[in-house]
Amino acid sequence: MPTLLAIGVSPRYESSTSRKLSALFVDSWRAAHPAGRVIDRDLMKTALPFVDLPWIGGAFMPAEMQSAESLAAIRISDDLVAELKAADHILIGTPMYNFSIPAVLKAYIDHVVRKDVTVSTDNVGLLTGKKATVILATGGDFSPGSPVEGYNLASGYLRQVLGYVGITDVEIILAGRGLAGDYGETAADAFGEAVALAAAA
Ligand SMILES: Cc1cc2nc3c(=O)[nH]c(=O)nc-3n(C[C@H](O)[C@H](O)[C@H](O)COP(=O)(O)O)c2cc1C
Repeated sequence: MPTLLAIGVSPRYESSTSRKLSALFVDSWRAAHPAGRVIDRDLMKTALPFVDLPWIGGAFMPAEMQSAESLAAIRISDDLVAELKAADHILIGTPMYNFSIPAVLKAYIDHVVRKDVTVSTDNVGLLTGKKATVILATGGDFSPGSPVEGYNLASGYLRQVLGYVGITDVEIILAGRGLAGDYGETAADAFGEAVALAAAA
């Protein structure tokens, strides 16, 4: 069964560009995959701790040597990795914060990039055969040719880290008018077509 993992990041819900466009993506994906399954991973509703010492023990020590604390710390990471492995297509709908990604998305990435789990010891990504779509909502305009194009550290980082775990088929939709709603436009007007096309591909 085709499976979409939809990762939501923005805390703004109703007024969020990335969430509006992600909802449109999910609708289009469902229409193109009537028998498909959607896993909803809302990072605003996931209590994600940062990587700490027990987590590192859980990730790097053999299971039989782990403390109860480490076993508990690594459980959420195991659950998130299982979702990723189950998915054929991963949708990340995220704002740009301070030229990069929000801390909660970085915390998610730190949980799922794991040696011998999603990346081999010799740095070969293990999550092959998947695609990813990133909807990156920004206030500024970072489109190619813009004088501040190079300030966008989010696109390159996400492409690199997804590639590191083996997801190299990545489409990034730069929704660079995050404030459009404030001027009476809707995100779907500006970026809906690109989103629907990415979902149906
Ligand atoms: C804490 C914070 C930092 C932001 N940093 C940037 C930034 O560096 N560049 C930019 O273009 N927009 C920035 N913005 C604007 C958001 O990217 C923009 O409003 C986007 O639409 C937010 O996504 P959302 O609508 O899905 O919540 C920032 C917004 C917030 C709240």
